[in-house]
Parts: sequence; structure tokens; C-alpha cells
Amino acid sequence: MRYQAVLDRVHREIQPWIGGGEVAHYIPELARISPHKFGMAVVTIDGQAYAVGDAHERFSIQSISKLFACTLAFQLLGNELWQRVGREPSGTAFNSLIQLETERGKPRNPFINAGALVVTDVLARRFVRAETAVVEFIRRLIAVPDVDYDPRVALSEMAHAQRNRAIAHFIDSFGNMRMPPDLVVEAYCRQCAISMSCLELARAGLFLANGGVAPISGERILDPSSTKRLSALMLTCGTYDAAGDFVYRVGLPAKSGVGGGILAVLPGDMAVCVWSPGLDTNGNSHAGVQALELMTTYTGRSIF
Ligand code: DON
Repeated sequence: MRYQAVLDRVHREIQPWIGGGEVAHYIPELARISPHKFGMAVVTIDGQAYAVGDAHERFSIQSISKLFACTLAFQLLGNELWQRVGREPSGTAFNSLIQLETERGKPRNPFINAGALVVTDVLARRFVRAETAVVEFIRRLIAVPDVDYDPRVALSEMAHAQRNRAIAHFIDSFGNMRMPPDLVVEAYCRQCAISMSCLELARAGLFLANGGVAPISGERILDPSSTKRLSALMLTCGTYDAAGDFVYRVGLPAKSGVGGGILAVLPGDMAVCVWSPGLDTNGNSHAGVQALELMTTYTGRSIF
């Protein structure tokens, strides 16, 4: 597959979309990022890398971190994890509290904020610092030792984390937290503040395209069946209440973040990451979704 030619074409055609949507402003540090950034990178399981635009520039991965945290929690607990968090799309906003009341503090899935907070709770119980476990896991996946969270972004989110604190305390009221909710929220904010580039994220996601083995380190991260299951969750829940429309347009399992990044995988072939900070109303990158749609259209490759 001539991925570089496809990326170059997508980069040309995406120009009118760049700057559209709105940069996340509920985390003030993210509101400072130029909406005109655009980067895209493809890394194949045999190690070829292709990039356009700002693909080397690090940005705040935000909810894409939920994928790595969930992988660690799934490694630790296996199917026991599903006693504390569900596997259904929520059909509500990523930071909604609505279902928690009727579903007695069991979040719908690990990719909405409520579910990710339970996942962080699992990690906070097992590790001295949950966010460090996620950071070190990512460093190992891509053999890049200086990947870290940005303390300014973490502090900025913590100062405006009323909703996530409310979610964590509400879950706790149903007995589905093991650690103090405020400690969990702070670890979660640091984990969301990890900075990575499109190229680094595509490399980090490659184990999902490669049957659970990280091609760079050779380490088995998940068995093939668990890899299938995690990818299925990305497909149905990774882009929140836009998951149906995203799958219709793009046809790949993916995880988005309010920093404007989207990481997607094509099993057996490659991982792709796109970044453009302007978000649509669901919190997914406006230009990013369109760029991925163009890419799978031009390559003719998706999971369908
Ligand atoms: O908890 C939050 O609201 C952010 N740290 C992450 C949300 C997010 O990235 C949702 N993604 N589209």
C-alpha cells in the first residue's frame, strides 16, 4: 500500500477542514493550542512509518490515554474488570453522569470518563502511582524514554475537574471505588495530560494491529483474544456517542481525545494517528475524522 501518497493527498484535501470545530476550552491549557495544527502518521506492523504535517509535534493525548490504561487494567484483572465497568456504548456525552444513577455506579464502558475513572482506580490500587504505570507502559511500547505527562495541562485540568470529581464521588457512593475518589481523579488528570506525537501514538497502538504483540519491543501485551476484545470496544465506544457515525464513515476501531488526536488501527496491517485540535460537538477532532474517512476511502482498506 502506498501510504505516503495517500497521506499526501489527504493532507492536500483536508486543508478547508483545518481550523473548523472548536478547541477544547474547559481545560484552559488546551485552549491555547493553535486550531490550525494538523498532523497524520501511519506505521505498519513491519515497521514502515509515513507522516505528513505536524506528525512529529507532541500534543495532549487526553482520552487516548484511556486505551493504554484499560489495556493495563485488562492485563491485571482479565474478565473480572467487567464486573466493575460495562462494555456497551453509552450514547451519551463522554463526561455524562446520567446513566450512573440508574445503573448503580457501574459505568457503561471504559472509554467514557466514568469508566476510565474506575480503570484508574484499578491501577491506583495496584501501583504506587497509576499515571506512572501508564507513562512507563507507553515508554516501553515505543522505546522512547522521555514520554511524560505535562504538569501544566494536568494542573489546568485539576483546577476545572468538578465534573470528574462529581463522577468519581458518585461512583464511590455505590461502592465501586476502592481508592479515595480525589486521588483517583488526580491520577486520571495526569494520565490524560501525557504528551505524544502522531508518530509516537501510532507506534504505541501498533500492538493492537499485531495480534497483541508490540512490534518494537517484541513484548506480548495481550493474547490475541483479548486484543480482539479491546479493539471491539474501541469500535463501539472509542468515539463516544459519535461511535456509530464514526464507524460508518471510517470503518476502523479508534480512540479519540479532546486534545484533537484520534488513534485508529487496521488489524494485521497498521496503526494511524491524526491530530487537529478543533473538535466537533461530540469532542472528536473535526478535521481528524474527515482525514481518516478520506484515508480509508482512498486506500479501500478498513475492517469491512
Ligand atoms: O476528563 C476529561 O474531560 C478529559 N481529560 C478527557 C476527555 C476526552 O479526551 C474526551 N475525548 N474526546
